[in-house]
Amino acid sequence: MQPSRTSQIVALIRSQLDRPSTPIGDADAQRKLCKGMRPSSGGSLRTSLVARTRFFDQLVLKAISERIGQVVICGAGYDDRALRFRAPAVTYFELDLPATQTDKAARLREMEADMRGLTLIPVDFRRDDPSILLRDAGFQAGRPALFLCEGLLVYLDREEVLRLLKGLRLVAFRGSKLASSLATHPEGHDSARVVATLNKRRRTGTAEPWLTVLSIDGWSSLFSHSGWRPDDISAVGGRTGGMLLVTCEPDTDL
Ligand SMILES: C[S@@+](CC[C@H](N)C(=O)[O-])C[C@H]1O[C@@H](n2cnc3c(N)ncnc32)[C@H](O)[C@@H]1O
Repeated sequence: MQPSRTSQIVALIRSQLDRPSTPIGDADAQRKLCKGMRPSSGGSLRTSLVARTRFFDQLVLKAISERIGQVVICGAGYDDRALRFRAPAVTYFELDLPATQTDKAARLREMEADMRGLTLIPVDFRRDDPSILLRDAGFQAGRPALFLCEGLLVYLDREEVLRLLKGLRLVAFRGSKLASSLATHPEGHDSARVVATLNKRRRTGTAEPWLTVLSIDGWSSLFSHSGWRPDDISAVGGRTGGMLLVTCEPDTDL
């Protein structure tokens, strides 16, 4: 198994963006993490990635300002926020497949990153329960957290998405938030056909195929069925398809 190329491509584009950082954070962390990665043109990804990055950056900064002490980054890849947004009393838990985590850990060692406040957890969401792994890693289920699923859920099938979201809900204390970026298509389209067409167009469509692209209603129902209540859904590129940026709160009616 190779480290995720899609997460490298995203990180390489992000390393060129102008982004905020916290007073004790490392504003150069993304560039250092990308050292030696095979360059990528990034193609048409850049525009949506700018919006997506701003969305997740702002949510992390808001969580820090609200004294939320735990940030869980699912499918973290080469996300640099644990270093860029380092803050006193904030712990970051990053979950990703073992090959990517091993490569990221080596890069963090190479750049002599201060690992206090950062825990890397190897996981495969196709079979592992994140609630167990998080607790084992010191996550405190009795305190609120910000959960991020950025560019991840499209790589899992519907059942795997449901299982992951339910697992996160199990450890989501009152005041927690879940933020996700999602691939979407207009209502009434056949999701399986959309997925097949999109994968044919993607350079990484064979190594890292997309599995779940849904309408806004389809995604909303998946969140509701896993115990999360969407409180904000914004469509990037219009409501006719493309990317959704969604925040959810734990549904307390369950
Ligand atoms: C497009 S990348 C996004 C990385 C990161 N969230 C970002 O935006 O920079 C998707 C990430 O999901 C991870 N991923 C895909 N399938 C996974 C699985 N079954 N279990 C854990 N992580 C997975 C990949 O390894 C990769 O790092």
